[in-house]
Amino acid sequence: MEAGNKSDNFWYKDVVFYELHVRTFCDSNGDGVGDFKGLTTKLDYLQWLDVDCIWLLPFYPSPLKDDGYDVSDFYSIHPDLGTIEDFRVFVHEAHKRGIKVIVDLVFNHVSSEHSWFKEARSHPESQKKSWFIWSDTNKKNISARIIFSDTEKSNWAWDDEAKAYYWHRFYGYQPDLNYDNPEVREEMKNVMRFWLDTGIDGFRCDAVPYIFDRDGTSSENLPETHLFFREGRKMLDEEYPGRILLAEVNQWPTEAISYFGNGDEFHMLFNFPLMPRIFIALAKEHYQPVADIINQTKSIPEACQWAIFLRNHDELTLEMTNDEERDVMWREYAKHPKMRFNLGIRRRLAPLADNDRLRIELLYGLLFSLPGSPLIYYGDELGMGDNIFLGDRNGVRTPMQWSPDKNAGFSSADSEQLYLPVITNPNYHYEAINVYAEKRLPYSLLNWMKNVIGIRKQKKAFGRGYIEILKPSNTKILAFIREYDDERILCIFNLSRHAQYFELNLGQYAGMIPVEMFGNTNFPAIKKEPYSFTLTGHRFMWFELRKNTSV
Ligand code: GLC
Repeated sequence: MEAGNKSDNFWYKDVVFYELHVRTFCDSNGDGVGDFKGLTTKLDYLQWLDVDCIWLLPFYPSPLKDDGYDVSDFYSIHPDLGTIEDFRVFVHEAHKRGIKVIVDLVFNHVSSEHSWFKEARSHPESQKKSWFIWSDTNKKNISARIIFSDTEKSNWAWDDEAKAYYWHRFYGYQPDLNYDNPEVREEMKNVMRFWLDTGIDGFRCDAVPYIFDRDGTSSENLPETHLFFREGRKMLDEEYPGRILLAEVNQWPTEAISYFGNGDEFHMLFNFPLMPRIFIALAKEHYQPVADIINQTKSIPEACQWAIFLRNHDELTLEMTNDEERDVMWREYAKHPKMRFNLGIRRRLAPLADNDRLRIELLYGLLFSLPGSPLIYYGDELGMGDNIFLGDRNGVRTPMQWSPDKNAGFSSADSEQLYLPVITNPNYHYEAINVYAEKRLPYSLLNWMKNVIGIRKQKKAFGRGYIEILKPSNTKILAFIREYDDERILCIFNLSRHAQYFELNLGQYAGMIPVEMFGNTNFPAIKKEPYSFTLTGHRFMWFELRKNTSV
């Protein structure tokens, strides 16, 4: 990359992200827990799959009550996962293969086991006291919603040692940091510097909207919160150019977009409003839910980019849906009460699609062609199943399935010793759903995924292009054009389970040839009149519109 070449600094617009948990990816020392040494041995696989940027879930020391999002030391690695040296080797080896690395950073809170909190609660004069938010009543700031509504009754928790309540937006054992204190703000910037100095390419910033709180408000998206991250961005641009900030901002479109600032806040945001609407469109067999949200989220500053995803390590969150939409989702995708979690659905992608290969491909077809950089959640490239009977969101965090061998090739430990059990449900048994088996079958989901990633990478329009949603003659069809420089791609999706006929008005492209991108097959030239298509149930197609050079 040439220094000073601004457009090269937009690397994040062309990437495919891969989210993984070190703990459940590959265990190198047979203790039942994945580690950095194990992960490093699997980088060749990720390079083969052709993903470009790994997002690591929290790997810091932690009592692991919230799977590592309860951090007890920001400057170190959880001993089960290895050492800082192992981490450095991993980053170096990833970079050698052209793979970038971003790490999760939990800004909003720490574990109650963190030394900062232990010191704060220990006596009233403690230097760390003001690093947290205390009150002698739990009646303040009650307009802030409770996010983990299944388990938490209040955002205040009583601390016997401090004899006061402390503020927490998530689990009770995750006290919020007090960002009104400049020491806290400075410390978190130092944490950023510490990890940036290891050579990583940026951060996935956790729980961004909640870091400041003000009585009488929702305590979300406050101006102070934007200011803090703009300062963080400035530091990044000045001291570590080319690194990125990707935010978890689970908000409605207008609020979410505000976190891009004028291109001077976050480089990227997850498109939380879009994600559930992809599933709603499929359930309703109607293009409108996706079309509406794309139209609301397509105008963002040039330097910014959405990260788009179907599933991640959390529940399929429905916080940003209305009652009607939520009912559709629960009815269609959470038929068993155990599938629900807080306001969402704790399931992996394949089970959400009832393991229907056509529906899985359709969902990925959308993910890989709608505006943004797509994210794959580890194991979903294989069609891994889940286990809704494990607690919290652990059912979607089970070990990666590498082979039909013991423990799915994840670990040589006794199976009872594994961090989480492997999936043995007959429909998703690891003996069939694994990297080894799927690599050998040319038409496996895994090989299909590798292929679709490769096709996407042929065209910059997918990552950088403008989108125009077309008006199909049939509402069961979603159709759009992606356009960038002289590239034009037409994408059509049949959201219905049955075959559909439809026409598209493509008059402005008259004379061009649609070339189907998976087979490089020419279709009849576009004319002024509407172009007609037939798609069988849950099928999609991408066409490159090429100039007709034969006339
Ligand atoms: C974020 C994480 C989630 C975690 C929560 C509280 O939303 O994605 O897994 O439970 O923060 O730390």
